Parts: sequence; C-alpha cells; structure tokens
Amino acid sequence: MRIGQHQLDNNIILAPMAGVTDRPFRELCRSLGAGLAVSEMLSSNPRVWNSKKSKLRMDYHDESGIRSVQIAGSEPAAMAAAAQLTVQQGAQIVDINMGCPAKKVNKKKAGSALLPHPELVQAILESVVNAVDVPVTLKIRTGWDPESRNGLEIAQIAEQSGIQALAVHGRTRQCLYNGLAEYDTIKTIKENVTIPVIANGDITSVEKAKFVLDYTGADAIMIGRGAQGAPWIFNEINHYLKTGEQCAPLEKMEITQILLGHVQALHEFYGEVMGPRIARKHVGWYLKEQDQSGYFKRQFNAIDSPIEQLNTLETYLNHQ
Ligand SMILES: Cc1cc2nc3c(=O)[nH]c(=O)nc-3n(C[C@H](O)[C@H](O)[C@H](O)COP(=O)(O)O)c2cc1C
Repeated sequence: MRIGQHQLDNNIILAPMAGVTDRPFRELCRSLGAGLAVSEMLSSNPRVWNSKKSKLRMDYHDESGIRSVQIAGSEPAAMAAAAQLTVQQGAQIVDINMGCPAKKVNKKKAGSALLPHPELVQAILESVVNAVDVPVTLKIRTGWDPESRNGLEIAQIAEQSGIQALAVHGRTRQCLYNGLAEYDTIKTIKENVTIPVIANGDITSVEKAKFVLDYTGADAIMIGRGAQGAPWIFNEINHYLKTGEQCAPLEKMEITQILLGHVQALHEFYGEVMGPRIARKHVGWYLKEQDQSGYFKRQFNAIDSPIEQLNTLETYLNHQ
C-alpha cells in the first residue's frame, strides 16, 4: 500500500477518531501493527488553533511513522491554509474529513454535509491539493442519505482532483452509526477508480477484516472502534492475513504492560490533571469484558492522582 511517496508497512490503518486517536494512542497502535494512524481532525478555523485542545492535536512534529493529519472545514481557501499549517508542523499526509456526521460540524457545511455539494467538494479538494506538496487523502461516507448515495461521484471527483487515497465508511450521514455498514458501495467505488481505496466500517475481528478486503477488493482497511481497548487488533489481523490462522492470544503480562504503558503515556502527554481523566475512557474500553458490573470502573474513575491511578490499575490487573 502506497500513498504518494509513502510506502506503508501494511494495509491496516487506524481510523481518525476525535477524542481517541491522540498521539499516545496512535503511537501505541503503530507499535502493535497499524500500517498508518490518522490523527484526530483539526478545524480549518484559525481562531481555534491556539486552544489547548488544538495545540495537543498539533503535537506530532517528531512522531514516529508516517504522520497523517486530518483537517475539517468547508471553505476552500481556509482548508488550504489549514493544510499548509499542518505540513509546516510536520504532517507528511493531509487527510480531508468529509465523513463526520456531528451536527456541530455539519451545520457549518463541513464533514459529511459536503457530500451533497460535489462542486464545493471539488473546489476544496483542488484547493488543498494545490496548496501543499505532500499527498492529500480524503475520507468520506457513502453519501448523505440512502436515497442520495453519491459516494462514487465523489470518489471520481477525488481522483480527478489529485487525491492520492480515499477512505470510505460504508454508511451514509443519515445512518449515523446505526445498522450495519454496507460494503457494496465501497466495492463499486474500488471498481471505478484507480487511486487506492480504503474500506471502513464495523471491522472488529480478523475474519471480518479478511472478508471486507476480499469482498470490496479494497487496497486497505481502516479500523476505528474495533481498536478501542484492543490496539493489538492490528497485529492480529496482519497475522491472520499472512497465515490464515489466528495468532496466540496475548499473555496476561503483555496486556498488563500495554495498559499501564498506555495510561502512563496519557499522563505524560496530557499532564497530571487531564491525563487521568482521559485515561478513564480507555481503561473502560480495555476492561469492558472483565468488569461488566462496572465496580472497578467506579472505583478507578474516582481517582485523580496519576500515581494512584496506575497503582490501582496494576493491582486490579495482577489479581485477574
Ligand atoms: C469517537 C469517534 C470519533 C470520530 N472522529 C472522527 C474524526 O475526527 N474524523 C473522521 O474522519 N472520522 C471520525 N470518526 C469516524 C471513524 O473514523 C470511522 O469512520 C467510523 O467509526 C467507522 O469505523 P469503525 O466501525 O471501524 O469504528 C469517529 C468515530 C468515532 C467513534
């Protein structure tokens, strides 16, 4: 899998997820087999670039691996400026968000709200592609709603505009996250464009990963929620695709090390106040099977101190 001049180690990609795919999580997923990890989206509105949240999102200049940074917005010139900023900060790929279904984003005609406006889509894509000398990629849904599923039209515009890879989430905006993702539109897109196509939506197991790759013919797959609390899914899929067999499950000790390392990295990245707060949701995802009553979660979420959080987690994991 190549994106422009960048050769990926493999074709299993971590999806951009605002509030989830921060730098510690991207680095963790890459260390556990993700071929690429796309950043959280950055708004093209310069007024927010100085906020603490945006500054943390822009912290990638010395990150390992290929740095793909996502931008969201609706104004071609503003998107071009945002793309230039991300490249100045070290982005090696600029990814454009035309998939986000959030009302806050859509009401500014950004994210998936752009899909019913192919001319604006084209203007944004051309503006961004012409503004930077790194590859530009695009992420879309299959359309605004099932009656106007124009994913193929948008894909062809993307190809003509110089987009170098296209990720497609197999749902429309109207579907939000309901029902099951469909892969027929992704298959049709793959059959009709020559740029690399990345299939996305509901890939949560090694078998599903293989099925989606085979069914759509896509060049790569992208995993979002399936990596929450399971960043090792990338190694598992790589192994399955290579050998046709499931790899041995991780040892308890290895899982403990990954969890503690992740929580520690969050503390270091976000600091001692925000770090423990951000760690709570990740730990909740990791332990959702074994802590079904939520007893440990309530205890863990009441802790504010980073050291106490790590000690409590370690004690819990050692007694499992
Ligand atoms: C919490 C959350 C945040 C997300 N944020 C973004 C985002 O910033 N940009 C984007 O293009 N997609 C975003 N998405 C969509 C995912 O990238 C992905 O397309 C979607 O979750 C479907 O893939 P999955 O079934 O593997 O999770 C987000 C999804 C979730 C669950």
